[in-house]
Amino acid sequence: MTLTRADLAKLPSYVPGRSVPGAIKLASNEVPYGPLPGVVDAVVEAATSAHRYPDMGVVALRQKLADRLGVPAERVATGCGSVALAEHLVRAACLPGDEIVYSWRSFEAYPIIAATAAAASIQVPNTAEHAHDLPAMAAAITSKTRVVIVCTPNNPTGTPVRRAELTEFLDTVGPDVIVVLDEAYREFVTDPDVPDGLAEFGDRPNVVVLRTLSKAWGLAGLRIGYLVAQLDVADAVRKVVTPFSTSAAAQAAALAALDQDEEMRRRADLVIAERTRVYDALRGLGQDVPETQANFVWLPLRDSAVPFAQVCEANGVIVRAFAGDGVRVTIGTAEENDAFLNAAEKALAS
Ligand SMILES: Cc1ncc(COP(=O)(O)O)c(C=O)c1O
Repeated sequence: MTLTRADLAKLPSYVPGRSVPGAIKLASNEVPYGPLPGVVDAVVEAATSAHRYPDMGVVALRQKLADRLGVPAERVATGCGSVALAEHLVRAACLPGDEIVYSWRSFEAYPIIAATAAAASIQVPNTAEHAHDLPAMAAAITSKTRVVIVCTPNNPTGTPVRRAELTEFLDTVGPDVIVVLDEAYREFVTDPDVPDGLAEFGDRPNVVVLRTLSKAWGLAGLRIGYLVAQLDVADAVRKVVTPFSTSAAAQAAALAALDQDEEMRRRADLVIAERTRVYDALRGLGQDVPETQANFVWLPLRDSAVPFAQVCEANGVIVRAFAGDGVRVTIGTAEENDAFLNAAEKALAS
C-alpha cells in the first residue's frame, strides 16, 4: 500500500546535471557567459517588490514576446521554464490512458510529464544516426494519441529535424493531434534547412511551439519559458498553469534579456564556433558524434558512457552520462572545452 500512485514507482526520477565544487560543469546545456547585461539590475529592482504577487497575466512579457514573434499576445503563454509549459500542455490535452508519442532517446522530462498526467508514453526509437524517425512516429499515432513531441534539435543527441521531413510529417498527422515543436535550442541552429518552427509552421491549428530563455538567453536559474499556440490551445494552457508561476524576477529578467539581442547573438555565435571545434576534435579522436545543431554534442559510447564520464569527472569536468547509451557534453568556453577534450582523450585511452 502506498499513499501515492503505484504506477509512479516505475518512473525514473529526473536526474539533474551534477555540480561538483571547483569542477567545470558541462552537464546542463547552460551558456557559460553569465547573465546578459541589464539582467541583474532588473532582478534587483524586481526584488524590491518581492512582498507583492507578480502580474499573473504576465502582460508585459507576453506582449514583448508577441511583438518579436509577430503573433498576438493571446497566443503566448509563459511558465516556470518551458518544461513546466510542456507539463501544463499535456495536462490540458490528455486524459488518463491517452497516448503521447515522442522520439527516444530525447529529453528525459518527457516520460515524467506523460506519467504525471497518467498518459501512456509511446517512445519511437531514434534512427541509427540518432535523429527522430518521423515516419515511424507518424505510424505510431493511434486514435488515443493526443500529443506528439518533436524535439528539434533533439536533447541529448543534438540532431535537428529538417524542413522537408517536418512538412511531410505535419501533413500526415491528423488535425485532432497536437504536435509540439520543442525548440529549446533554436538559437543555436545554423543549418538553413532546419526550419524555424514558429515562423514556418506556427499558423497550423494543431502546432504548438515551445521555447525557453534558459539556454541562449542565459536565464536557466530564473525559470522562464514560453509557448506559442493557437488561441484555444493557449487559452487552455493558461487555465491550467500553476497560478503566479512566472515570478516577478523572471519576468523582469526576461524583459531585460530580450533587449540584448545582439549580445545574445554574439554569445550564441561563440558557442557555435566552439561546437564546430569540439565536434571536429571528437571526430578526430574516432568518435561517431552525430551532427549537432544545439549547444552540446553527443557521444554514443553505449556501455562506456558511465566510465567515460567518471574519467572526465576525475579530471575536473562534469558531463552527462546516460548509462548504456551515451554522453552529452555541453559546449562551454574555449578553456572549458579544452579541459574537456583533454579529459576525453584520457578517458578514451583508458
Ligand atoms: C528539449 C528541451 N526542452 C525543454 C527544456 C526545458 O528548459 P527550461 O524548463 O529550462 O525552459 C530543456 C532543458 O534542458 C530541453 O532540453
